[in-house]
Amino acid sequence: MRGDAVLASAADPIERETEGSLRPRDLIEFVGQPELKVHLGIVLEAARARDEAAGHLLLSGPPGLGKTSLAHVIANEMGAGFRPTSGPALERAGDLAAILTNLEDGDVLFIDEIHRLPRVVEEVLYPAMEDFQLDLVIGKGPSAQTIRLDLRRFTLVGATTRAGLITGPLRSRFELTEKLDYYPPEDLVKIITRSAGILDVQVDEEGSHEIARRSRGTPRIANRLLRRVRDYAQVRADGVIDGDIARTALEVFKIDGKGLDRVDGAILDAVIRRFRGGPVGLSTLAVAVGEEPDTIEDVYEPFLMQLGFLRRTPRGRVATEAAFVHLGLEVPRGPEGARLFE
Ligand SMILES: Nc1ncnc2c1ncn2[C@@H]1O[C@H](COP(=O)(O)OP(=O)(O)O)[C@@H](O)[C@H]1O
Ligand SMILES: [Mg+2]
Repeated sequence: MRGDAVLASAADPIERETEGSLRPRDLIEFVGQPELKVHLGIVLEAARARDEAAGHLLLSGPPGLGKTSLAHVIANEMGAGFRPTSGPALERAGDLAAILTNLEDGDVLFIDEIHRLPRVVEEVLYPAMEDFQLDLVIGKGPSAQTIRLDLRRFTLVGATTRAGLITGPLRSRFELTEKLDYYPPEDLVKIITRSAGILDVQVDEEGSHEIARRSRGTPRIANRLLRRVRDYAQVRADGVIDGDIARTALEVFKIDGKGLDRVDGAILDAVIRRFRGGPVGLSTLAVAVGEEPDTIEDVYEPFLMQLGFLRRTPRGRVATEAAFVHLGLEVPRGPEGARLFE
């Protein structure tokens, strides 16, 4: 299975279904991200008091941190409808126009991967976001006419793994821009405990810590590892997940102590062994590990950098001393023991 299928989204239909049932429904159920929740709490409460749709919101951050969940939470908190779509699904201006004209008052329009909206579609969005108006061009050539349609007052929630690719004009039309960060282990423990309750699995304190520690700071992965460990516990033990069971199960599924998986391992291995610690360019690295450059950049690198295993330099990706140590390799030295890697 390719790494992007493993990490980037819930590709498998069974997983998509459980993911739905594990989704937090309101801000109270949404664990962690305290600063973001304070901002959102204020904005939503104020909008509710004015009986208006909330301002447009842009969410950015690596996959699996809760962007789609938050969009649902916003709709629920506002008692509004939820209309999901995505950048790549909106190929022509008419695709977006059809959705916009069907929105009800207060609806949350969720555009996932909004950085992949085609430019012509993005331009339809500007007056819609700003003035709740849609400019439609009727006919072609010299007889073409533009008509303006009024839209219902909606809230746009955009999600992106690549905040840097959002154009200035689009970004400036969002009232609030929030970044989701990797979750600390104690938040992941809360998420695992909640999910275990919903899935009707018994997991003790040590078991949930063991899973949390290896979840790459990512709730989607915490839930996925919980399901893998549950399967193992069901087949090989009496069904209760304790520390030992969790450790053994995660070893069986080849998740290492820091939560690195096969693709993370392949990236570090390529940088260190094949390219002698780097620097190596992104596209060369992508070919070496058999993944798309975008997937490496969006999904794998942020976490490897957060762990301090990889650095981006103007000349390419470079491994760190910590990465050599993690792989159990001797750290190469220059003449007279000079440090070659940070
Ligand atoms: N803050 C959170 N609290 C509880 N569960 C969460 C949280 N964030 C994410 N999850 C869980 O992780 C899964 C993936 O989150 P999702 O919103 O789909 O991430 P993204 O859209 O950023 O890729 C959700 O189904 C949910 O079960
Ligand atoms: Mg999502």
